Amino acid sequence: MKFRKEVKQLRQLENLLSAADLQLLKSTIDDDLELANILIENAVGYFKLPFALTPGITINNKAYPLIPLVVEETSVVAGLCKNIIFAKSHGTFFASQEGHSFIGQIHFPNLQAPEIFEKSILDIKEELIVQANQNPCASMVKRGGGVQDITAMLITRPDTKIMGIVHVLVDTKDAMGANIINQTCEYLKPLIEASIAEKALMCILSNLNTERLTKVEILLEDLDETLAHRIEEASIVAQCDPYRAVTHNKGIMNGMDAVCLATGNDWRSLEAGMHGFAGHNGTYRGLSNWVAKGRQLKGTLVGPINVGIVGGMTGIHPMAAFSLRCLGVENSCELAYVMGAIGLIQNFAALRALVTDGISKGHMRLHLRNLLKQTDATPCEQKKVLISLKQIFSDKQYVTATDAHTILKKLRS
Ligand code: MEV
Repeated sequence: MKFRKEVKQLRQLENLLSAADLQLLKSTIDDDLELANILIENAVGYFKLPFALTPGITINNKAYPLIPLVVEETSVVAGLCKNIIFAKSHGTFFASQEGHSFIGQIHFPNLQAPEIFEKSILDIKEELIVQANQNPCASMVKRGGGVQDITAMLITRPDTKIMGIVHVLVDTKDAMGANIINQTCEYLKPLIEASIAEKALMCILSNLNTERLTKVEILLEDLDETLAHRIEEASIVAQCDPYRAVTHNKGIMNGMDAVCLATGNDWRSLEAGMHGFAGHNGTYRGLSNWVAKGRQLKGTLVGPINVGIVGGMTGIHPMAAFSLRCLGVENSCELAYVMGAIGLIQNFAALRALVTDGISKGHMRLHLRNLLKQTDATPCEQKKVLISLKQIFSDKQYVTATDAHTILKKLRS
């Protein structure tokens, strides 16, 4: 029955896709499309990405035995593995979380009576919290969460009109909780509109969640003093230059996103939140700071690591559930600690490479393999081409697909 439905879906594509492409699509469906159809609409196949496991890390004296990663980028896992092992012998991780809530927003873009808006919300907030906690958040309250507070603020628009924003602070416990936050805001919106005689435009959670910030620190000891100093300098560059800060943060997200994906969390939300936080003081900055003191180097990363271990895809995707078992995290806070720590080590790995050999050397092994894949060299030819490509890199400090093709051509002639 299920199979027939899938075949029907694929048949509808017959006029648009070649037989070979249809076959390719079909080959991605191992058992059935049930899971895909639970997750999204119009599912006709799966898109595989590599899944890796690295040695674990210890944070606040608790060991997380294996780190699951879903990532496609060459050298991310290698850099992480090498530096997890380095961090184990040279460092200690500490992590903490400040605040427990997520922010839901209700937007009043053009207030009729801005002078009384904040006071009006304050006057009704206790009743709103009771209503929300007895209705949409009732089961969240049973789990120890629910709406914790409601605040209001004013923003002056470019046309000088005044906008009002209501923040509904919801503790979602171990869920990322996007649905419950949105439902709570949608439940409260008409109640507020009726009470204060203002019209709201919309409501939705904010991914810039400054109400729940995760801080991860690593103290590395016994480092080469020059290396420690150069990493601090690289960190200062990322604090001062937004162009560098974005790339610095991309390196952090290489690690964080990989764990985020592996555990079935929403990586777009994580990305939006972390980048928003990097710029929320007016200038976009590096999300991590490295400070050297002789042979010691202290790294700190702070950000809204909005993830969950229940709800969403975490419970229904077998690999997400498997990843959470590998990690051994007991709550969403611990998952945020691990993601932050992996982001920080990935950042250390990138900076360590950048301020010493440069990034290309570490990428070379897989890069050369990728270049070889772009040719039709036989296994025997590949060995010979590889030797020449390595020589070219060592002579010129760069090597391209054209080099691979040229060497192969010469070899054959
Ligand atoms: C590449 O994916 C990530 C890096 O660019 C990060 C960085 O520059 O810090 C290497």
